[in-house]
Amino acid sequence: MDYKDICKQVADLAIETGKYIRSEIAGFDSSKIETKGKNDFVSYVDKTTEKKLVEKLSQIVPEAGFIAEEGTRSDRGEVYNWIVDPLDGTTNFIHGLYPVCISIALQENGKTVVGVVYEIGLGECYTASLGDGACMNGKPIHVSERKTLKESLVGTGFPYSDYSKLDSFMKSMADLMQNTHGMRRIGSAATDLIYVACGRFDCFYEYGLSPWDVAAGAFIVEEAGGKVSDFSGGDNYIFGREMLAANAHVFSEFVNKVKSYME
Ligand code: IPD
Ligand code: CA
Ligand code: CA
Repeated sequence: MDYKDICKQVADLAIETGKYIRSEIAGFDSSKIETKGKNDFVSYVDKTTEKKLVEKLSQIVPEAGFIAEEGTRSDRGEVYNWIVDPLDGTTNFIHGLYPVCISIALQENGKTVVGVVYEIGLGECYTASLGDGACMNGKPIHVSERKTLKESLVGTGFPYSDYSKLDSFMKSMADLMQNTHGMRRIGSAATDLIYVACGRFDCFYEYGLSPWDVAAGAFIVEEAGGKVSDFSGGDNYIFGREMLAANAHVFSEFVNKVKSYME
């Protein structure tokens, strides 16, 4: 399978489909929001986008199954599976705010081989295929070179529904606020990860995440020279509902810090 060619096709699809999301954000009718759980929203835009993506992705790799957030298709492939978040940043979207992304990963036997995150606000398409490095709008990107947590900018996501680890999380934030350059909550985990990949953020961590939030972004971080893990430094970060990412210099220091509060 030509991962590079598939990556190009998926990037073109994300950019094309992103035009629909962009056209909807300005005049979005908030009476059309549905609630899936506490602070967990979905609209016809998420669902329509997913249908458009699934239809085309099914043509790109016909034998692949799907793990797609809105459930357009949920059949699993024996070897290949797409992991799709049609609109990452729905709360931003319904408030007329960017960033908002499309996030698509292709896995082969459980390992990601292609990742595409298209951030619609800035029109930035982040891509990676196995062994080829990571790019933004076709130009190679790399994680930052910062050496210590003290000089790092840390992205995160605040708990909005699962408050089971809230106390530990608040303690970890209090520490990081006082011992880094600062923290950001931008409302899209896929964007947080691509910001680590291109060096805008040095670190990211969040709990309560789903595979479609992180599969593509985590792979792009790795192809950009960074490291990803669960909160213990292990590899259960796609299905394990928690993940952290950092440039390779700061990674160990960051894992130890997060682990000391969150494990
Ligand atoms: C959410 C965003 C958000 C993160 C949540 C995700 P959605 O995805 O990535 O930044 O904090 O955990 O669920 O619902 O907008 O696709
Ligand atoms: Ca998401
Ligand atoms: Ca979503």
